Amino acid sequence: MCGIIGYIGTKNATPILFNGLKRLEYRGYDSAGIVTLDKEFHMKKDVGKVDEINTRLNFSDLPGTLGIAHTRWATHGGVTKENAHPHTDCEGKIAVVHNGIIENYQELKKNLVSNGHKFKSQTDTEVIPHLIEEIMKRGKNFHDSTLSALRSLEGSYAILALHKNERKIVAARKGSPLVIGVADGSYFAASDIPAFLEHTKNVVYMHDSDVALLTDTGMKVFSLLEGGDVNRKVDTVDWDIRQAEKGEFNHFMLKEISEQVETVQKAVQQTKEVVDGVVHSIRNAHGIFLIASGTSYHACLAASYILSKLNKMHVNVVLASEFPHYEHFLTPKTLVVAVSQSGETADVLEAVKYAKARGCKILSIVNVVGSSLTRTSDSFLNLNAGPEICVLATKSYTSQLALFTLLAYALSGKLEEGKKRLNYLWNVIYHLTSATVKEKIKELAEKLKNKEHIFLIGRGLEYTTALEAALKIKEVSYIHAEAFAGGELKHGPIALVEDGTPCIVFVSEETEKEILSNANEIKSRGGYIIGVSPTNNEVFDFWLKVPEANNENPIVQIIPIQILAYQLAVLRGLDPDHPRNLAKSVTVK
Ligand code: AGP
Ligand code: GLU
Repeated sequence: MCGIIGYIGTKNATPILFNGLKRLEYRGYDSAGIVTLDKEFHMKKDVGKVDEINTRLNFSDLPGTLGIAHTRWATHGGVTKENAHPHTDCEGKIAVVHNGIIENYQELKKNLVSNGHKFKSQTDTEVIPHLIEEIMKRGKNFHDSTLSALRSLEGSYAILALHKNERKIVAARKGSPLVIGVADGSYFAASDIPAFLEHTKNVVYMHDSDVALLTDTGMKVFSLLEGGDVNRKVDTVDWDIRQAEKGEFNHFMLKEISEQVETVQKAVQQTKEVVDGVVHSIRNAHGIFLIASGTSYHACLAASYILSKLNKMHVNVVLASEFPHYEHFLTPKTLVVAVSQSGETADVLEAVKYAKARGCKILSIVNVVGSSLTRTSDSFLNLNAGPEICVLATKSYTSQLALFTLLAYALSGKLEEGKKRLNYLWNVIYHLTSATVKEKIKELAEKLKNKEHIFLIGRGLEYTTALEAALKIKEVSYIHAEAFAGGELKHGPIALVEDGTPCIVFVSEETEKEILSNANEIKSRGGYIIGVSPTNNEVFDFWLKVPEANNENPIVQIIPIQILAYQLAVLRGLDPDHPRNLAKSVTVK
């Protein structure tokens, strides 16, 4: 789950690589490194975030107009300077950065060691430069040796490789993302587009098992799958670099929360033809599975309630990582809807592989067009939320909800009504993300910042909001937050309530009576009740007013809790954009 970037061109490589790494830091941030090449390699790497390392080591004096760089999220080998990338061969002639996992590295390493190779790190990655070196010893050139080395790797990789005596980058991918940026007289290769978006909007999406050779004079792509050179077309992305910058905000998290005023509207700007196509495949399916991980899974859960209510339709919602255990139910008539912001989540891609093997049709809902998921799906819907940089999913969640809600309206023949209702939400979201509301939520965050536990309850659609809200709070503030269906409390969890235990209660018109009675049960045992509700109630110790939005409640009710999670992190001195142990795209199983 690392971020990699490479550059070859006429400009000084280091500032390009350094800024690219900063934009990729959401993918991993335990260590980082850059190697550039002029007449020889110049390398700096260490543990810590990119800025911290720069303060210590000063990347800026690395010379050359060619280089590769890496920001790491360790999978194999501890977080140490030796394990930070780039990794080199015995003679220091080959340098490699890698995102992914080499599953057969132990076996490869054993053979290489018995051939006299000396390893400096505990990573799986280091086998790659040694393997290339070993093959080069047999007389093959750098490019061909890299191709041979790649053929013996099992697992997933996006790699960039350099040779000290050659002005070229070999860039390859299998299972992990890698995109090429094309600008006048220069090439970029990176895990994600924002890494080079300030330099070019022209991109080439690499296919699985593609190996690109980038030189000063051009780019050539070889497919390991097809066994020959292939043509990959240059696309233009319509993302704006400002979308990938913090602007006036202190953190991407708050920026992305605030962007929801627009992103919810953008999610529903789907053409009638596209929506009709999806409605057709849903109607014709025999059995529908919604699969996703984390926040995207919560959006699927909410969708199952909405589809049941608006369309009297049952869908199976399954965590992507659990989906392989459901393969017995799959037939070629099953429709699998895979939902993923990044389109690169390994669990989701693996689930899709299972479904495809059973002949199922795959519809995906993604935010990153050109991602692995869009390429393996039969069709896809674009969330259109623009780059989501913060590790926490915020705007992509409400976009997923908006799109699912739109589909539910369309399925009942009310596409236009759905669009109107969803577009109207901008008004509510504008208010919920205003400075006044943020101040009010800060007051609440002050009260909660030293708590060890926060509980959240809701019923029906609001239960799914409670689940997502709990995930937001725990992943960014590290306060234990747990959601329960209102009706489940009395079956056990109420034993956890003590004097002052905070409980956030999501209230809608439909569930008001019952959920408030659950709130009272908690209050009678000393709980501190925070109501997220259209109207105040005497049971609330703190009230966050959110207007009633019926089927659209999940979209608006999550917003104050996204802000609360953010404020809790800031008040606890944490970095909301980079929570510990997490990475934006989870590209390992
Ligand atoms: C939630 O804030 C994220 N940290 C995480 O749970 C995420 O939703 C999950 O990894 C799925 O990612 P995806 O939507 O890119 O597939
Ligand atoms: N497996 C490599 C390492 O641990 C790359 C990590 C990754 O891409 O997640 O260094």
